[in-house]
Amino acid sequence: MTSSVALQPEPAPVAACTVSRDVQAFDLLIEDMETELGESWGDLSFEDAIAFLEQPDSEALEFFAVAMNAQDEGELALIGELIALSKDRGVKVILIAEDVSPSVLHQLLKTGANDFLPYPLPEGALHEAIVRIRTPEPEVAAPANGANGLAARAGGSHDGAIFATHGLAGGVGATTFAVNLAWELATKEKKDGPRVCLLDLDFQTGSVSTYLDLPRRDVVYELLSDTSAMDADNFLQAMQTFNDRLHVLTAPADMLPLDIVGPEDIATLLDIARANFDVVIVDMPKTLVAWTETVLSHANVYFAVLELDMRSAQNALRFMRLLKGEDLPYEKLRFALNRAPRFTDLQGKARVKRMAESLDIDIELMLPDGQKQVAQACDHGLPLSENAGKNPLRKEIAKLAASLHELVGSEIEGG
Ligand SMILES: Nc1ncnc2c1ncn2[C@@H]1O[C@H](COP(=O)(O)OP(=O)(O)OP(=O)(O)O)[C@@H](O)[C@H]1O
Ligand SMILES: [Mg+2]
Repeated sequence: MTSSVALQPEPAPVAACTVSRDVQAFDLLIEDMETELGESWGDLSFEDAIAFLEQPDSEALEFFAVAMNAQDEGELALIGELIALSKDRGVKVILIAEDVSPSVLHQLLKTGANDFLPYPLPEGALHEAIVRIRTPEPEVAAPANGANGLAARAGGSHDGAIFATHGLAGGVGATTFAVNLAWELATKEKKDGPRVCLLDLDFQTGSVSTYLDLPRRDVVYELLSDTSAMDADNFLQAMQTFNDRLHVLTAPADMLPLDIVGPEDIATLLDIARANFDVVIVDMPKTLVAWTETVLSHANVYFAVLELDMRSAQNALRFMRLLKGEDLPYEKLRFALNRAPRFTDLQGKARVKRMAESLDIDIELMLPDGQKQVAQACDHGLPLSENAGKNPLRKEIAKLAASLHELVGSEIEGG
């Protein structure tokens, strides 16, 4: 007699598995998995999932939905190992996180999961993530105005990081931040640094082209007005390169209504962008649009730029309220205070503290006032590093770029 009962194979190989400490803590995930997959999914612990990948049965597995919350923060190494092994075996990973701290979030982003969702899961989010992991990577073409070295490496399946910037009030410095962050990231390494692109989605008053002295081209309009025809080829052709290092999609020549594109168009655009670049920086219009949510859900980090004034504070409050009310992933927001008071300005610092408290937010980034040099660099169409390398604003953005660069760098090495 053999005691094979416990070793009975599953009746049919499962297509997907949830992986968590206790799946009952993620009941919305159970519901969504049932809707998406019926009966053909299983549930595993972190350790069992790793063991499962070693078995032949796992070949039929399409993806893991790895769910974690604050209680699992001690298991990061294990979760990282699981994700790396999954990648190795061609199993996609959708990471679902509830209430994890920003530093853990950063580490998680490094792990190379295919998609990242907040918990509680927003309506339809799992469905969209599954569609995304099932969509084949777009074909990659060489950029028309090929930046040296960049084109050569623009290949393979790839999932670049998306960082968005959004000014919570007019003129708070969101575009200056986006342009300089993109440039610092693109030039951090002399050779073989991350491939970076900057997308100006502020279709009306977007000033990326001014700040980098690039012409606004009609092809951008053509690209945006027919996204069904959009592919890596015409996306790259609509871009320009700044100083051979940074690819830029400027706003179109004519001022366009912001609803010329819808959420699906923007999703297509972002998917193509991140398949072709290691880092995608998106400069958003300050107006909320139907596709703000799309960018928010695609972004790894969404920088909300504000100043220390009532206008910014009130808009921040309304923005947070909206995101929370609509169950959007507000935890992706990182508040950046521009023209922040100096270290020695105790009164100013007390005001920042009060503002953060009254809004119930963390202001994680302090961008100093860089005085006239900043506006001058903008007017000359140059990033600060090219025109005013010692400017305090530049130094702070370079520091941020260095920390983001580490995160992105490990992604490149990982594949
Ligand atoms: N930290 C800073 N120190 C000094 N000047 C700054 C700083 N940040 C931005 N500026 C200047 O403020 C002006 C507005 O900046 P920017 O265009 O980046 O703001 P924005 O939030 O993108 O505005 P918009 O509402 O037009 O999108 C520019 O002239 C820029 O040079
Ligand atoms: Mg702007």
